[in-house]
Amino acid sequence: MQDERGLIEEARALGGGYFLLKIAAPLIAAAVRPGHFVMARVSPAMDPLLRRPLGILEGRPPYIWLYFQVLGSGTRLLSGLRHGDSLDLLGPLGNSFPEMPDKRVLLIAGGRGIVPLFHYARAYGERRPLVLLYGGRGKADLPLLERIKSLTLQRLFVFSEDGSLGQKGLLTDGLEKIVREERPDATLSCGPEAMLARLAGLLKGRGLNNLASLEARMGCGFGACHGCAVPTVSGAFRKVCDEGPVFPLEEIQWRT
Ligand SMILES: Cc1cc2nc3c(=O)[nH]c(=O)nc-3n(C[C@H](O)[C@H](O)[C@H](O)COP(=O)(O)OP(=O)(O)OC[C@H]3O[C@@H](n4cnc5c(N)ncnc54)[C@H](O)[C@@H]3O)c2cc1C
Ligand code: FES
Repeated sequence: MQDERGLIEEARALGGGYFLLKIAAPLIAAAVRPGHFVMARVSPAMDPLLRRPLGILEGRPPYIWLYFQVLGSGTRLLSGLRHGDSLDLLGPLGNSFPEMPDKRVLLIAGGRGIVPLFHYARAYGERRPLVLLYGGRGKADLPLLERIKSLTLQRLFVFSEDGSLGQKGLLTDGLEKIVREERPDATLSCGPEAMLARLAGLLKGRGLNNLASLEARMGCGFGACHGCAVPTVSGAFRKVCDEGPVFPLEEIQWRT
Protein backbone atom coordinates (compact mmCIF):
# COMPACT_ATOMS: atom_id res chain seq x y z
CA MET A 1 0.00 0.00 0.00
CA GLN A 2 1.37 3.39 -1.02
CA ASP A 3 0.43 6.84 0.24
CA GLU A 4 1.08 8.76 -2.94
CA ARG A 5 0.38 12.27 -4.20
CA GLY A 6 -1.03 11.80 -7.70
CA LEU A 7 -0.77 14.54 -10.29
CA ILE A 8 -3.80 15.10 -12.52
CA GLU A 9 -2.66 14.76 -16.13
CA GLU A 10 -6.12 14.95 -17.67
CA ALA A 11 -9.64 15.54 -16.30
CA ARG A 12 -12.64 14.91 -18.55
CA ALA A 13 -16.36 15.31 -17.99
CA LEU A 14 -18.13 12.53 -19.89
CA GLY A 15 -21.68 13.80 -19.38
CA GLY A 16 -24.40 12.35 -17.19
CA GLY A 17 -22.40 13.14 -14.03
CA TYR A 18 -19.50 10.83 -14.99
CA PHE A 19 -15.85 11.89 -14.95
CA LEU A 20 -12.55 10.39 -16.04
CA LEU A 21 -9.21 11.29 -14.43
CA LYS A 22 -5.80 10.33 -15.79
CA ILE A 23 -3.37 10.59 -12.88
CA ALA A 24 0.39 10.25 -12.70
CA ALA A 25 0.86 7.97 -9.68
CA PRO A 26 3.87 5.80 -10.55
CA LEU A 27 4.05 3.76 -7.34
CA ILE A 28 0.37 2.78 -7.37
CA ALA A 29 0.38 2.26 -11.14
CA ALA A 30 3.29 -0.18 -10.85
CA ALA A 31 1.50 -2.35 -8.27
CA VAL A 32 -2.15 -2.26 -9.35
CA ARG A 33 -4.13 -5.32 -10.47
CA PRO A 34 -7.73 -5.58 -11.72
CA GLY A 35 -10.10 -5.24 -8.75
CA HIS A 36 -7.84 -3.06 -6.60
CA PHE A 37 -9.05 0.33 -5.44
CA VAL A 38 -7.67 3.56 -3.97
CA MET A 39 -8.84 5.76 -1.11
CA ALA A 40 -8.81 9.34 -2.42
CA ARG A 41 -8.56 12.35 -0.11
CA VAL A 42 -11.20 14.53 -1.70
CA SER A 43 -10.37 17.68 0.26
CA PRO A 44 -7.38 19.05 2.19
CA ALA A 45 -9.93 20.54 4.65
CA MET A 46 -11.66 18.65 7.48
CA ASP A 47 -14.93 18.44 5.58
CA PRO A 48 -15.46 15.90 4.10
CA LEU A 49 -13.08 14.16 6.45
CA LEU A 50 -13.11 10.64 5.09
CA ARG A 51 -11.34 9.52 1.97
CA ARG A 52 -13.55 8.02 -0.72
CA PRO A 53 -12.98 4.55 -2.25
CA LEU A 54 -12.66 4.43 -6.04
CA GLY A 55 -11.82 1.52 -8.30
CA ILE A 56 -9.01 1.75 -10.83
CA LEU A 57 -10.14 1.68 -14.44
CA GLU A 58 -6.72 1.11 -15.85
CA GLY A 59 -3.09 1.14 -14.75
CA ARG A 60 -0.30 1.84 -17.24
CA PRO A 61 2.75 3.11 -15.38
CA PRO A 62 3.20 5.91 -14.54
CA TYR A 63 -0.55 6.52 -14.94
CA ILE A 64 -3.77 5.26 -13.42
CA TRP A 65 -7.26 6.16 -14.61
CA LEU A 66 -10.25 6.72 -12.30
CA TYR A 67 -13.81 6.81 -13.60
CA PHE A 68 -16.49 8.02 -11.23
CA GLN A 69 -20.07 9.14 -10.92
CA VAL A 70 -20.91 12.23 -8.86
CA LEU A 71 -23.17 11.17 -5.97
CA GLY A 72 -22.47 13.56 -3.11
CA SER A 73 -19.99 16.03 -1.67
CA GLY A 74 -16.86 13.90 -2.08
CA THR A 75 -17.28 12.97 -5.71
CA ARG A 76 -18.44 16.55 -6.46
CA LEU A 77 -15.12 17.84 -5.14
CA LEU A 78 -13.27 15.28 -7.27
CA SER A 79 -15.16 16.46 -10.34
CA GLY A 80 -13.60 19.92 -9.86
CA LEU A 81 -10.02 18.64 -10.29
CA ARG A 82 -8.11 19.99 -13.29
CA HIS A 83 -4.85 19.33 -15.12
CA GLY A 84 -1.95 20.10 -12.76
CA ASP A 85 -3.91 19.60 -9.53
CA SER A 86 -2.79 16.92 -7.11
CA LEU A 87 -4.77 14.21 -5.30
CA ASP A 88 -3.66 12.20 -2.26
CA LEU A 89 -4.20 8.50 -2.87
CA LEU A 90 -3.82 5.46 -0.66
CA GLY A 91 -3.48 2.23 -2.61
CA PRO A 92 -3.63 -0.13 -4.27
CA LEU A 93 -6.03 -1.61 -1.70
CA GLY A 94 -8.06 -4.80 -1.39
CA ASN A 95 -7.83 -8.08 -3.25
CA SER A 96 -8.16 -8.51 -7.00
CA PHE A 97 -9.87 -10.69 -9.58
CA PRO A 98 -7.83 -13.85 -10.31
CA GLU A 99 -6.41 -14.09 -13.80
CA MET A 100 -7.91 -17.57 -14.49
CA PRO A 101 -5.84 -18.57 -17.53
CA ASP A 102 -7.60 -20.73 -20.15
CA LYS A 103 -11.05 -20.08 -18.69
CA ARG A 104 -13.95 -18.57 -20.60
CA VAL A 105 -14.92 -15.53 -18.56
CA LEU A 106 -18.15 -13.54 -18.68
CA LEU A 107 -17.81 -9.99 -17.32
CA ILE A 108 -21.05 -8.44 -16.03
CA ALA A 109 -20.99 -4.68 -15.38
CA GLY A 110 -23.83 -2.46 -14.18
CA GLY A 111 -23.22 1.32 -14.55
CA ARG A 112 -20.04 2.45 -12.79
CA GLY A 113 -19.44 -1.23 -11.94
CA ILE A 114 -17.62 -1.33 -15.27
CA VAL A 115 -14.44 -0.06 -13.55
CA PRO A 116 -12.75 -3.29 -12.30
CA LEU A 117 -14.04 -5.29 -15.26
CA PHE A 118 -12.67 -2.83 -17.80
CA HIS A 119 -9.36 -3.15 -15.97
CA TYR A 120 -9.59 -6.96 -16.14
CA ALA A 121 -10.33 -6.89 -19.86
CA ARG A 122 -7.49 -4.43 -20.53
CA ALA A 123 -5.02 -6.52 -18.51
CA TYR A 124 -6.01 -10.04 -19.58
CA GLY A 125 -8.29 -9.74 -22.62
CA GLU A 126 -5.67 -10.65 -25.17
CA ARG A 127 -4.90 -13.92 -23.41
CA ARG A 128 -8.37 -15.53 -23.22
CA PRO A 129 -11.89 -15.25 -24.66
CA LEU A 130 -13.80 -12.57 -22.78
CA VAL A 131 -17.45 -11.65 -23.14
CA LEU A 132 -18.74 -8.41 -21.62
CA LEU A 133 -22.34 -7.74 -20.62
CA TYR A 134 -22.68 -3.99 -19.86
CA GLY A 135 -25.89 -2.33 -18.74
CA GLY A 136 -27.25 0.89 -17.29
CA ARG A 137 -30.36 3.02 -17.04
CA GLY A 138 -29.78 4.73 -20.37
CA LYS A 139 -27.19 6.02 -22.81
CA ALA A 140 -26.01 8.72 -20.36
CA ASP A 141 -25.22 5.98 -17.86
CA LEU A 142 -22.92 4.16 -20.31
CA PRO A 143 -20.41 6.81 -21.40
CA LEU A 144 -17.49 4.39 -21.50
CA LEU A 145 -18.82 2.50 -24.48
CA GLU A 146 -16.42 4.06 -27.01
CA ARG A 147 -13.45 3.28 -24.76
CA ILE A 148 -14.75 -0.26 -24.27
CA LYS A 149 -14.58 -0.77 -28.03
CA SER A 150 -10.77 -0.51 -27.75
CA LEU A 151 -10.70 -3.64 -25.54
CA THR A 152 -10.06 -7.13 -26.89
CA LEU A 153 -13.42 -8.81 -26.35
CA GLN A 154 -14.89 -11.84 -28.03
CA ARG A 155 -18.40 -10.40 -27.71
CA LEU A 156 -20.04 -7.33 -26.21
CA PHE A 157 -23.71 -7.16 -25.15
CA VAL A 158 -25.18 -3.79 -24.15
CA PHE A 159 -28.47 -3.28 -22.32
CA SER A 160 -30.22 -0.06 -21.28
CA GLU A 161 -33.41 0.10 -19.24
CA ASP A 162 -34.90 2.84 -21.45
CA GLY A 163 -33.75 1.32 -24.74
CA SER A 164 -31.60 4.36 -25.67
CA LEU A 165 -28.55 2.14 -26.25
CA GLY A 166 -28.24 -1.55 -27.10
CA GLN A 167 -31.06 -3.91 -26.17
CA LYS A 168 -33.90 -2.60 -24.04
CA GLY A 169 -34.12 -4.02 -20.52
CA LEU A 170 -32.06 -4.99 -17.52
CA LEU A 171 -28.82 -6.79 -18.21
CA THR A 172 -30.09 -9.62 -16.03
CA ASP A 173 -32.89 -10.08 -18.64
CA GLY A 174 -30.27 -11.21 -21.16
CA LEU A 175 -28.15 -13.30 -18.82
CA GLU A 176 -29.81 -16.69 -19.20
CA LYS A 177 -29.45 -16.72 -23.00
CA ILE A 178 -25.88 -15.38 -22.92
CA VAL A 179 -24.76 -18.01 -20.39
CA ARG A 180 -26.42 -20.73 -22.52
CA GLU A 181 -24.75 -19.57 -25.73
CA GLU A 182 -21.33 -18.43 -24.47
CA ARG A 183 -20.82 -21.26 -21.95
CA PRO A 184 -18.52 -19.37 -19.55
CA ASP A 185 -16.50 -21.14 -16.85
CA ALA A 186 -16.59 -18.08 -14.62
CA THR A 187 -18.45 -14.80 -14.17
CA LEU A 188 -16.95 -11.61 -12.75
CA SER A 189 -19.44 -8.93 -11.82
CA CYS A 190 -19.71 -5.45 -10.33
CA GLY A 191 -22.69 -3.14 -10.07
CA PRO A 192 -25.57 -2.06 -7.86
CA GLU A 193 -26.41 -4.37 -4.96
CA ALA A 194 -29.83 -5.21 -6.43
CA MET A 195 -28.15 -6.37 -9.64
CA LEU A 196 -25.64 -8.55 -7.78
CA ALA A 197 -28.41 -10.06 -5.64
CA ARG A 198 -30.36 -10.92 -8.80
CA LEU A 199 -27.24 -12.42 -10.38
CA ALA A 200 -26.68 -14.59 -7.31
CA GLY A 201 -30.14 -16.07 -7.82
CA LEU A 202 -29.82 -16.49 -11.60
CA LEU A 203 -26.34 -18.07 -11.50
CA LYS A 204 -26.97 -20.39 -8.56
CA GLY A 205 -26.42 -24.10 -9.22
CA ARG A 206 -24.87 -23.68 -12.69
CA GLY A 207 -21.41 -24.87 -11.62
CA LEU A 208 -19.72 -21.57 -12.55
CA ASN A 209 -17.07 -19.77 -10.55
CA ASN A 210 -18.93 -16.53 -9.75
CA LEU A 211 -16.99 -13.62 -8.24
CA ALA A 212 -18.36 -10.15 -7.50
CA SER A 213 -16.71 -6.88 -6.55
CA LEU A 214 -18.73 -5.14 -3.82
CA GLU A 215 -19.18 -1.51 -2.87
CA ALA A 216 -19.61 -0.41 0.76
CA ARG A 217 -19.37 2.83 2.67
CA MET A 218 -15.79 2.94 3.98
CA GLY A 219 -14.00 4.67 6.82
CA CYS A 220 -10.33 3.69 6.67
CA GLY A 221 -10.04 1.39 3.62
CA PHE A 222 -7.47 -0.95 5.19
CA GLY A 223 -9.19 -3.05 7.85
CA ALA A 224 -8.99 -0.85 10.94
CA CYS A 225 -12.52 0.50 11.50
CA HIS A 226 -14.96 -2.34 10.55
CA GLY A 227 -17.12 0.28 8.83
CA CYS A 228 -17.37 -1.73 5.62
CA ALA A 229 -18.42 -5.14 7.00
CA VAL A 230 -21.03 -7.11 5.04
CA PRO A 231 -22.95 -10.20 6.19
CA THR A 232 -22.22 -13.61 4.65
CA VAL A 233 -24.49 -16.64 4.41
CA SER A 234 -22.55 -18.30 7.26
CA GLY A 235 -23.63 -15.47 9.57
CA ALA A 236 -20.07 -14.08 9.83
CA PHE A 237 -19.20 -10.59 8.60
CA ARG A 238 -16.44 -9.86 6.07
CA LYS A 239 -14.68 -6.55 5.55
CA VAL A 240 -15.03 -5.28 2.00
CA CYS A 241 -11.83 -3.22 2.17
CA ASP A 242 -9.23 -5.81 3.09
CA GLU A 243 -10.98 -9.18 2.71
CA GLY A 244 -12.61 -7.94 -0.51
CA PRO A 245 -13.83 -6.11 -2.46
CA VAL A 246 -13.93 -9.35 -4.54
CA PHE A 247 -15.96 -12.19 -2.98
CA PRO A 248 -17.63 -15.35 -4.24
CA LEU A 249 -21.12 -14.17 -5.23
CA GLU A 250 -22.73 -17.05 -3.31
CA GLU A 251 -20.92 -16.14 -0.08
CA ILE A 252 -22.73 -12.83 0.46
CA GLN A 253 -26.04 -12.54 2.32
CA TRP A 254 -27.82 -10.19 -0.08
CA ARG A 255 -30.11 -7.71 1.62
CA THR A 256 -32.27 -6.77 -1.37
C1 LIG B 1 -14.22 -0.74 -3.43
C2 LIG B 1 -15.05 0.39 -3.99
C3 LIG B 1 -14.80 0.83 -5.28
C4 LIG B 1 -15.57 1.90 -5.80
N1 LIG B 1 -15.29 2.30 -7.06
C5 LIG B 1 -15.98 3.31 -7.59
C6 LIG B 1 -15.67 3.77 -8.90
O1 LIG B 1 -14.74 3.27 -9.56
N2 LIG B 1 -16.41 4.79 -9.41
C7 LIG B 1 -17.44 5.36 -8.69
O2 LIG B 1 -18.09 6.27 -9.22
N3 LIG B 1 -17.74 4.95 -7.45
C8 LIG B 1 -17.05 3.95 -6.89
N4 LIG B 1 -17.34 3.55 -5.61
C9 LIG B 1 -18.42 4.26 -4.88
C10 LIG B 1 -17.87 5.55 -4.31
O3 LIG B 1 -16.95 5.26 -3.28
C11 LIG B 1 -19.01 6.40 -3.75
O4 LIG B 1 -19.85 6.78 -4.80
C12 LIG B 1 -18.47 7.63 -3.07
O5 LIG B 1 -17.75 7.27 -1.91
C13 LIG B 1 -19.58 8.58 -2.71
O6 LIG B 1 -18.99 9.66 -2.02
P1 LIG B 1 -19.70 11.09 -2.00
O7 LIG B 1 -19.03 11.89 -0.95
O8 LIG B 1 -19.75 11.67 -3.37
O9 LIG B 1 -21.16 10.76 -1.61
P2 LIG B 1 -21.76 10.79 -0.13
O10 LIG B 1 -22.03 12.21 0.23
O11 LIG B 1 -20.94 9.95 0.76
O12 LIG B 1 -23.14 10.09 -0.45
C14 LIG B 1 -24.08 10.70 -1.35
C15 LIG B 1 -25.25 9.77 -1.56
O13 LIG B 1 -24.78 8.61 -2.28
C16 LIG B 1 -25.06 7.44 -1.50
N5 LIG B 1 -23.90 6.55 -1.63
C17 LIG B 1 -22.65 6.79 -1.19
N6 LIG B 1 -21.85 5.73 -1.46
C18 LIG B 1 -22.62 4.84 -2.10
C19 LIG B 1 -22.39 3.56 -2.62
N7 LIG B 1 -21.21 2.94 -2.53
N8 LIG B 1 -23.43 2.92 -3.22
C20 LIG B 1 -24.63 3.51 -3.31
N9 LIG B 1 -24.92 4.72 -2.82
C21 LIG B 1 -23.93 5.36 -2.21
C22 LIG B 1 -25.22 7.91 -0.08
O14 LIG B 1 -26.06 7.04 0.65
C23 LIG B 1 -25.88 9.26 -0.27
O15 LIG B 1 -27.26 9.14 -0.48
C24 LIG B 1 -16.61 2.50 -5.03
C25 LIG B 1 -16.86 2.05 -3.74
C26 LIG B 1 -16.09 1.01 -3.22
C27 LIG B 1 -16.33 0.53 -1.84
S1 FES C 1 -13.25 0.60 5.80
FE1 FES C 1 -12.32 0.44 7.76
S2 FES C 1 -12.30 -1.71 8.06
FE2 FES C 1 -13.03 -1.51 6.05
